[in-house]
Amino acid sequence: MFAVNFNKTAMPIFYGKAALMTYLKSFKNKNTTIGFVPTMGALHQGHLSLMQQSLNENQHTVVSIFVNPTQFNNPEDLSKYPRTLEQDTEKINGLNPEIIVYAPSVEDIYEGNTNSETFDFDGLENQMEGKFRPGHFDGVGTIVKRLFEIIEPTNAYFGEKDFQQLQIVKKMTQKSMLPVTIVGCPIHRETNGLAMSSRNERLTSQQRDEANMIYQTIIQAKEIFQNQSAYEVNQWVQSAFNNNATFELEYFEIAEEETLLPCIDKLEDKNYRAFIAVFVNNIRLIDTISLK
Ligand code: PAF
Repeated sequence: MFAVNFNKTAMPIFYGKAALMTYLKSFKNKNTTIGFVPTMGALHQGHLSLMQQSLNENQHTVVSIFVNPTQFNNPEDLSKYPRTLEQDTEKINGLNPEIIVYAPSVEDIYEGNTNSETFDFDGLENQMEGKFRPGHFDGVGTIVKRLFEIIEPTNAYFGEKDFQQLQIVKKMTQKSMLPVTIVGCPIHRETNGLAMSSRNERLTSQQRDEANMIYQTIIQAKEIFQNQSAYEVNQWVQSAFNNNATFELEYFEIAEEETLLPCIDKLEDKNYRAFIAVFVNNIRLIDTISLK
């Protein structure tokens, strides 16, 4: 059988790549456009907006739901990552029952060798997340490349919340000469400004309310950056987190958007972005904002 459906859903769900590839082949021709949204599940409005953009811009949309073990450097983060396949498929079905879902097992993807390839992302991998999450981007590059090879999408959609990941995926696609266009999509936020993330599920409602502090901090950093240096902004952010019992700052950085190199002297012709990673009771949250 090609697809297995939950009773309550109508769209095609595939658990194995062979069946998915056969199904996609049945309607693919050189004019078919396929949009692809890779996810790790625990879907929220941000994911659904990526899917909507894909639906608007392509004839077919494929969504993958796979908690990729090779991109987790912290075993606790991997084991606690929310796995909510049934709710996820209901949300997708509610958005559009024509969306094709691929929810593989680790075995289907890694075939007994759950290891990452090693990539050279021209140094993008050594900045920010790369410093604190060793091996993370090799894991991301490995899974995204495999999914692209299985699905062969025309366009693939990634949220700008993980801006470093977006740049890394663009680099991997370009270096591997894969014929897919990478589309970056704006961050979706809760009403208090907190960037939407599957990890928000693990926050208590009080932590969720208070976590708007992260967004407020980067908005204010943007304002300060208009008249002060990156170093001064950094000092201000560090002091905003000093003595804060709830939030522990892992890093704050102002970096150039293309190379992700830290901003030392502001250059007129460069676009800069602020990046932040914060822990709330062992739950790691990230956010970013353009400083243009
Ligand atoms: O951003 C994510 O959810 C993941 O890193 C991705 C792109 C689905 C790869 O596992």
